[in-house]
Amino acid sequence: MKMPDHNALLVILTGAGISKESGLSTFRDPDGVWAKVDLEEVATPEAFQRNPDRVHEFYNHRRRGLQEPDIRPNGAHEALARLEQGWPGEVLLVTQNVDDLHERAGSRNLIHMHGELMKIRCELCGEGTGWKEDLGIGILCPFCGYKGGLRPDVVWFGEIPYAMDRILEHLSRCGLFVSIGTSGAVYPAAGFAALVRDQGLADTVEINLEPSEGASLFTERRYGPASMLVPQFVDELLGTLT
Ligand code: APR
Repeated sequence: MKMPDHNALLVILTGAGISKESGLSTFRDPDGVWAKVDLEEVATPEAFQRNPDRVHEFYNHRRRGLQEPDIRPNGAHEALARLEQGWPGEVLLVTQNVDDLHERAGSRNLIHMHGELMKIRCELCGEGTGWKEDLGIGILCPFCGYKGGLRPDVVWFGEIPYAMDRILEHLSRCGLFVSIGTSGAVYPAAGFAALVRDQGLADTVEINLEPSEGASLFTERRYGPASMLVPQFVDELLGTLT
């Protein structure tokens, strides 16, 4: 891989694999979330219309889990925050994850394209806010006062991810694209590597426990635990500055 110019824009995509060593489940591993729960029951707008209590129960459990004291950022999250602080060019972190471990590690230039577990949104008035407690259909919207409209501010299957214009604009001019801890099973994120490759402007790197569905799209591939490989990779990038 050719190291990018020092003022190059770096775009980093992360998935559930980066948070696995922090104690959070991935989705498609044998012990993943979708091995235990049918996503059609809890992660679609239709599911929320059909049985909002079931959907709230699923996200309340995950929101409580994320606030457990032993759930903390790992070395991979911390290395990406170090990269943002140490790299002369912009570093945009695009995460598919709804956990807040990147923020807790210190990343700031961050897009949650699938939303955030610690936020809620009202489907009636459109307002949103941070939220730590359990959510239920009987809770009044703090903005419009109506009942039944509050939902997790998470992007469900069939919904449009957040900030796609900003993501695509950054991908169109990045000097390096790095994908970390994602299976490459869900679009549009799964298409980012091909988009960058087809532009012919930048190398694409995959860092994952095992080859993803899009492995052949990457110019460089590193396989192993993110908490080991990501700090190494960040050290290599920052090492080119000295
Ligand atoms: N280090 C690096 N990679 C890991 C580790 C680890 N310690 N543990 C697991 N992985 C890898 C797995 O090999 C897998 O390829 O992380 C990937 C996780 O893939 P998924 O479970 O499919 O999660 P993700 O790619 O983030 O899913 C994308 O699908 O369900 C939706 O909205 C949800 O954002 C999610 C999206």
